Amino acid sequence: MESKLIILTGGSRGIGHETSKMFWENGWEVITCSRTPVAPQCPWTKNKQNHFQIDLENLETLENSLTQLVEFLNGRPVKALINNAAISPKSQSNERLSFVDTPIQLWQKVFNVNFFAPIMISKAIINNLKLAEGMVINITSIASDMVHEFAGPAYATSKAALKSLTREMAADLSKYGIRVNAIAPGEIETSMITQDSKRLIKSIPMGRFGKPEEVAAVIHSMCSDSFSYVNGTEIEINGGQKV
Ligand SMILES: NC(=O)c1ccc[n+]([C@@H]2O[C@H](COP(=O)([O-])OP(=O)(O)OC[C@H]3O[C@@H](n4cnc5c(N)ncnc54)[C@H](OP(=O)(O)O)[C@@H]3O)[C@@H](O)[C@H]2O)c1
Repeated sequence: MESKLIILTGGSRGIGHETSKMFWENGWEVITCSRTPVAPQCPWTKNKQNHFQIDLENLETLENSLTQLVEFLNGRPVKALINNAAISPKSQSNERLSFVDTPIQLWQKVFNVNFFAPIMISKAIINNLKLAEGMVINITSIASDMVHEFAGPAYATSKAALKSLTREMAADLSKYGIRVNAIAPGEIETSMITQDSKRLIKSIPMGRFGKPEEVAAVIHSMCSDSFSYVNGTEIEINGGQKV
């Protein structure tokens, strides 16, 4: 039987919350994780059992949590892993944190959450993905390719690394029937967007920010058969911001 199980990191708010909601509403089962317990705004069925309270920044505790996750899966096929959780630290005044102002420890934390955790989770559940001929969807960013007015260099380089990782994983995992793609959002209305971000609207031909559900809808479509030959690529969702 076709697997209708996905694992999604960072399901407690923003794009992750909307994605989880869309999959549950369409008959899928979703396993989520975040640093916080089940968010009150995410009252999906089975949420309590299917939510892992994990801090992706701490790679040592993540190793243990992944052992528990694999036990919880108990050999079940997983159709998709959505590597969505990420952090984008700002300055104290909520501005872009420059190269000079980013301490190396913070750089390391950003890479742990945004880049190393996706590697560790993908490796941990690879057998479950093989069983479903599943896919990995890495959520990158418009900041992977250009200097961004609000996202700093630690975030941008972590997302650029995740974009390259998408290509490398696609090359290596296709032989197991696993496809790997990325989604690069532009400006989406979540807690990652600050009040000052509003001035970016003029650089978006569509004249507005995207909504989390517009990203969720693309992720949901990517898990359908329509995308069966799409592999190793990045899909941009930015209202034309890069034209
Ligand atoms: N919004 C945008 O404009 C935009 C643009 C480009 C790319 N993106 C990308 O889209 C994805 C989702 O962004 P978003 O805007 O929805 O972000 P968000 O609203 O800030 O949500 C981030 C999610 O990640 C989880 N998370 C953060 N740090 C974590 C950690 N250490 N361990 C476990 N979970 C953690 C958060 O849960 P807890 O806080 O409860 O842990 C939350 O559920 C990210 O990859 C982001 O880089 C967003």
